[in-house]
Amino acid sequence: MAVRNETAHAAAASASVTVGADGGSVARWAAENPRSAALSARARHLFPGGVTHDVRLADPFPLAVTRAEGARKWDLDGHELVCYVMGHGALLLGHSHPEVVSAVRAQAARFFHPGANHELECDWAELVIRLVPSAERVRFTSSGTEASLLALRVARAATGRDKIVKLSGHFHGWHDQVAVGSDPPFDRPDTAGLPRATADTVTVIPADTGALAEAMQAGDVAAVILEPSGASWGTVPLPEGFLAAALRLTGAAGALFVYDEVVSGFRWAPGGVQEVTGVHPDLTVLGKVLAGGMPGGAVCGRADLMDLLGGPAAGPARVAHPGTHNAHAVSAAAGVTTLGLAAPGELQARADRVAASLRAELTAAFERAGVAGCAYGESSTFHLLFGYDGTPDGLDAAALKNGVPGSLSPALHCAMLSRGVHLFHGSGFLSAAHGDREVEETVGAFAATLGQLQAEGLV
Ligand SMILES: Cc1ncc(COP(=O)(O)O)c(C=O)c1O
Repeated sequence: MAVRNETAHAAAASASVTVGADGGSVARWAAENPRSAALSARARHLFPGGVTHDVRLADPFPLAVTRAEGARKWDLDGHELVCYVMGHGALLLGHSHPEVVSAVRAQAARFFHPGANHELECDWAELVIRLVPSAERVRFTSSGTEASLLALRVARAATGRDKIVKLSGHFHGWHDQVAVGSDPPFDRPDTAGLPRATADTVTVIPADTGALAEAMQAGDVAAVILEPSGASWGTVPLPEGFLAAALRLTGAAGALFVYDEVVSGFRWAPGGVQEVTGVHPDLTVLGKVLAGGMPGGAVCGRADLMDLLGGPAAGPARVAHPGTHNAHAVSAAAGVTTLGLAAPGELQARADRVAASLRAELTAAFERAGVAGCAYGESSTFHLLFGYDGTPDGLDAAALKNGVPGSLSPALHCAMLSRGVHLFHGSGFLSAAHGDREVEETVGAFAATLGQLQAEGLV
């Protein structure tokens, strides 16, 4: 299974894999990477599954990296790779951008955690409020997951209701309140260990206005939360007009409309999807690019809602929110520098142009090889889709989320790594550091990979 979000990689990795005695792509990559293999063997004694994030579970073993710069990184066995993981989308400027590195160094020498207010957190919040159209106030957290948790707490406090509506396949971090329906078949918890009472507060519906209207009918919904890019950063695009209709239906039912722009924020445009579409939510969840590659997240939105976080003055609907590392000064330094560079939108436009050309050339490579498939996506991202007459049009969320079938995924991943390209499970993030050279190398690697997969009888 090619998993497009960060919840179900355990399933992907536990899918059985033939490390071909025939010297297939997986066996070849394993043989080329003895140091990654050795580190993985060490890690298996330390970490459950040998990894520190489910998304890195991989067959035959995870890649280990030693250094990264711009659009590239170097693995432990000395191979140079074009990187399309890009800090899970956090690194809009590329790995270790010199201005971000120097801001982080300078701040680390001043203080990490002053245990007091500091100027950088105000600079950071002012940038968020300037860039994100619906942001009137900001509260920083340590991750996107924490921000999503906090946004829902604010929504429940503001409405006095418990229920949350989310869309099939949309991912909002790993906390209990949203860990339902993120992966096909979208009708069950994403994880063991979820209290039934918590799961029961979440209604998962398809991205369909009729289904949303029905879910709102009882008048008991606190918030509708969704990825405004469509599930998993555009893997499953939303139907035309859905955001505007959802805003209307949510408002009419007295519920709050919450955008999760952890991935799309500052990437789709300086102000995220809400800038592009003009459809503005009540609350927005941010992360990733926000903190320039350091840990960080934020909730922002309407002042009257956000002010519920304002301490005893907020009254009985006061929302509590401690957090040792909220607005951590080193994250703030990276965030302020990154958002400052991203504010004019030129870097996003450049990354978008390179991504569009990469998508077109990957699709042409499918055609040349006579393999059904395409690369599609928006902004500075791409998603590979194998089969289905080479178009995502008309496919449902389950098909799109499994665009690289399970039998193919490890071989594709390893064949591309052997040719110098690190995909993010059949998808990819570009940065402002990616350019024509990366496109050319990636397309060459992909054409050779398709030939290899054909020879292995996998496509
Ligand atoms: C859309 C979306 N929301 C929330 C999160 C959670 O963010 P974090 O991993 O920082 O907790 C992610 C992470 O990938 C995400 O893609």
